[in-house]
This record gives sequence, structure tokens and C-alpha cells, in this order.
Amino acid sequence: MSALAGQVALVTGAGRGIGRAVAVALAAEGAAVALAARSRADLAEAAAAVKDAGGRALAIPVDVTQDAEVEALVEQVLSELGRLDVLVTAAGVAAFGPVAGAKPADWDAMLAVNLRAVMVTCRAALGPMLRQRRGTIINVASIAAVRAIAGGAAYAATKAGVVAWSRVLAEEVRHEGVRVGVVLPGAVDTPLWDQISGAPDRARMLRPEDVARAVVLMASLPDGATMEEVRLLPADGIL
Ligand SMILES: NC(=O)c1ccc[n+]([C@@H]2O[C@H](COP(=O)([O-])OP(=O)(O)OC[C@H]3O[C@@H](n4cnc5c(N)ncnc54)[C@H](OP(=O)(O)O)[C@@H]3O)[C@@H](O)[C@H]2O)c1
Repeated sequence: MSALAGQVALVTGAGRGIGRAVAVALAAEGAAVALAARSRADLAEAAAAVKDAGGRALAIPVDVTQDAEVEALVEQVLSELGRLDVLVTAAGVAAFGPVAGAKPADWDAMLAVNLRAVMVTCRAALGPMLRQRRGTIINVASIAAVRAIAGGAAYAATKAGVVAWSRVLAEEVRHEGVRVGVVLPGAVDTPLWDQISGAPDRARMLRPEDVARAVVLMASLPDGATMEEVRLLPADGIL
């Protein structure tokens, strides 16, 4: 029997990269998967990949920085798929550069997507999960939250925020049947790196499917166990 048979998952950032691999992996374990991102073309491709894996896919175009869209997203998942068991927040953006050369406004988009939207999405998913007295939330942070990488101060701040948020939220809901975990990957070979100059050797990075395996493990543990923080690094340590 598949580990997530009968369950419903919602994955943000499911159009590309880590989110897409997570969506496919959750579907391969039997979950029906709602996929959220802004690009309709990416969503269509990702939904096709989920279906190829034998899963049920619901593609929902959403900008996670828009609170009302996030609320509507969760409502649509409930109305079309009936419940919400697993939330994975993989929508994220990255920009790097030294603090001295940055303008504060440069940080706003990263804070909005990587931190505030994670908070808003978790809050929206909690309603149905608390009503069901069952659910698993997995937030995708980054190893940058805990290892200093020059040029990554603003990105690291958003990811450290996600780690802190996840720890406290886990404490708030653990006695109500809801688990909260956070995964901190090192460098993963995804389209995120396409726009970043001076990127490390992509052949030495993790694959998105590696992160997806960790997420599936976190989501499919028995109800009595919770895996709250996973640090996943490429074997040779590239960050
Ligand atoms: N790649 C790495 O090395 C690495 C390492 C550690 C952690 N991470 C984290 O993992 C997460 C996924 O990264 P990735 O590498 O898979 O990036 P990616 O390939 O660029 O994919 C990012 C996804 O997020 C979506 N997204 C971005 N802004 C959004 C918004 N406002 N509303 C809805 N969706 C939005 C994108 O779709 P649209 O643009 O179409 O909306 C896309 O589907 C991020 O949080 C990233 O920080 C990545």
C-alpha cells in the first residue's frame, strides 16, 4: 500500500525545481496533489509529470505573496480534493550580493516570498488541519539559515526566519495532531541557479529528487513520530 494513499497534498512552488519534484514524489506515494505557482505553463508541465507518475493533479495559479490568493488556494483544495493532509512550501526566490552594495528595496521580494508568504500559507492550511486533527507541514528553508555564506545575508535571514517560525509552530500544534517540519538543503540543481552568476558547479549539487525523498519521508512517518528538521547536503559538502 502506498504510504500516502487517500491523502491530499498542497505544494507551493510546484512549477519547477524542488517543488515540482516534491509534487511528483508525493503523488508516486499515492497522494492527490494540488500544485501552486504563478506560471501556468510550468504548472501544466508539472501537473503532467504528476499524472505520468500515476497521480491526481490539480494545478492552481497563485501568487503566494497575495494573502487573498493563498486563502482562496486552500479553499479550492478543500472544495475540489476534499481535505488537506500535507502542505509543502517550496515557493521561493534567491538573490545574492554583498550587503554594502544592496538597496533595502532589493530585499523586499525575497522577504515577501521566502518568509511572509510561508507564514501566511501555513496559517491558511492550519484551519483544515486542526479541524481534521491531522496534518503535516513541511517548509523548505535552506542550509543558508545556519551556515554563513558571504553574499547571502538577506536570503539567509529569510530562511532563518522560516526555521524559527517552523520550530515555534511545531510547538503550538503538536498536541492537536499537526506536525511541522523544516528541511534545510544545501545547493540543489534547479532553475533557481540559472539567473545567478558565479554559481557553484551544478553537477556537484543535490538533485531536486533528493530533497523530495526527504520530504516524502517526513510526510509519511507514522502519526506517532515527527521529523522536525532535516539538513540535507551534497555528499562533498557544496553549499
Ligand atoms: N536550489 C537550491 O540550491 C536551493 C537550496 C536550498 C533551498 N532552496 C529553496 O527551495 C525552494 C525552491 O527552490 P528551487 O531551487 O526549486 O527554485 P526554482 O526552481 O526557481 O522554483 C521556484 C518555484 O517557486 C515559485 N514561486 C516563486 N515566486 C512565487 C510566488 N510569488 N508565488 C508562487 N510561486 C512562486 C516558482 O514559480 P513561478 O515563478 O511561476 O511563480 C517556482 O515554481 C526555495 O525556497 C529555495 O530558496 C533552494
